[in-house]
Amino acid sequence: MSEPDAARPDSSAPQKKIFIKTYGCQMNVYDSGRMADVMAPEGYVDASSPEEADVVILNTCHIRERAADKVYSELGRLRDLKAEKAARGEGLIVGVAGCVAQAEGAEMQRRAPVVDIVVGPQSYHHLPGLVARAGNGSGVIETEFPVEDKFASLPAPEKRRTLARGPTAFLTIQEGCDKFCTFCVVPYTRGSEFSRPVARIADEARALADAGVREITLLGQNVNAYHGEDAKGRSASLGALIRELAAIDGLERLRYTTSHPRDMDEELIAAHAEVGKLMPYLHLPVQSGSDRILDLMNRQHTVEFYLDIIGRVRAARPDVALSSDFIVGFPGETEADFEATLALIREVRFAQAYSFKYSPRPGTPAATRDGQLPEEVKTERLHRLQTLLNEQQQSFNEACAGRKLPVLFDRRGREPGQLVGRSPYLQSVHLDQAPAHFFGEIAEVEIEQGFANSLRGRLAESEAAFG
Ligand code: 5AD
Ligand code: SF4
Repeated sequence: MSEPDAARPDSSAPQKKIFIKTYGCQMNVYDSGRMADVMAPEGYVDASSPEEADVVILNTCHIRERAADKVYSELGRLRDLKAEKAARGEGLIVGVAGCVAQAEGAEMQRRAPVVDIVVGPQSYHHLPGLVARAGNGSGVIETEFPVEDKFASLPAPEKRRTLARGPTAFLTIQEGCDKFCTFCVVPYTRGSEFSRPVARIADEARALADAGVREITLLGQNVNAYHGEDAKGRSASLGALIRELAAIDGLERLRYTTSHPRDMDEELIAAHAEVGKLMPYLHLPVQSGSDRILDLMNRQHTVEFYLDIIGRVRAARPDVALSSDFIVGFPGETEADFEATLALIREVRFAQAYSFKYSPRPGTPAATRDGQLPEEVKTERLHRLQTLLNEQQQSFNEACAGRKLPVLFDRRGREPGQLVGRSPYLQSVHLDQAPAHFFGEIAEVEIEQGFANSLRGRLAESEAAFG
């Protein structure tokens, strides 16, 4: 499929403004950027608030609890704004995108008539047409999973205005999931697994590097299930893709998220040993430390299988920082199951982690199972779990004191003259009185102190000499 020419915005078209509000995960951040890209050739520029926008899109996420409620309350505010604008003779088109849109579909417009457009994650390239139709007064819903490749219909990388907004960027390489964990909506909202071809990803990564990006995080709901087509028409694994991307000049760091234990293959583990640009960090959700619960979750792996992978990754890259996701209070979880999760955490020692109380998602198998646990039990278990995880995170950070770490500075700090960046282990590192030209660059920092959520350092002597 050829890519539409998005290079030249139509200069005769009046300038219009779009406000895209992003909820949830990094994939949504990436998608919001792509939505802005497809609207740019139509004359749309970013609005700084819904008040000054002609089009407002809520790019929603379904993973977190009460996600749909939050969207509906935002739509209540937009209904008032639309009425105020109408009184002034101004129009406002309201769209809902992302996983809540996908899950709710037509129901959305019934519950919130303010909504003009409901667009699922696979249909963003149709947004200009949907906005035009909505402007003519017809409500439009597009939540089918079309067979065409939405990525191929997006503007070519070098033509994207939102391409690089700093030294770090996300790049979606894979979407959807075929795993069907019994708690998860992703297979229903994002559809079945799809991998972009290697050449497309490499083009986008090169364009990002040319635009000043030093670090790319490869994204996918099940990113290590990646199996995109390579130049020879064969299927390439994530490990092979990482090797290819590591050859790009200017690109210094690669990361990937989120992985599934079953898809950690030898090639990927070997990449951790052999590809210097692949950062020593692995986010590998385990969800529970009880085989019984893992089975009920349909995770397709045991605790032993998980620990074996961790052992092999650590053998490949001894300093790797490990991160995970945990769910407490899954239906049927006993105190003994929960304690098995604590035992797994003690055995692995995580540098960082995300943890959640189980919350039933309509349409998923676990939502209607017997053995749903009372809220107080979930709250108490989450508290114990997080206390342990926070201790581990803090001791990982404290152990960095005295080390010299390369830091990619990608943000300005709250204090004047302060820059904030990321260590190889994804920790935030604060540097006072940082030379301004360090922004967007990697510099060696001597870590002075580790805290619960960040590190503080000073310039290593070799760097200070040039600063
Ligand atoms: N309840 C609680 N946590 C969930 N997650 C996904 N679905 C649910 C749910 N129904 C968590 C998992 C997943 C992360 C992205 O969100 O831990 O890995
Ligand atoms: Fe959801 Fe991840 Fe399980 Fe896929 S592997 S169903 S995205 S939790």
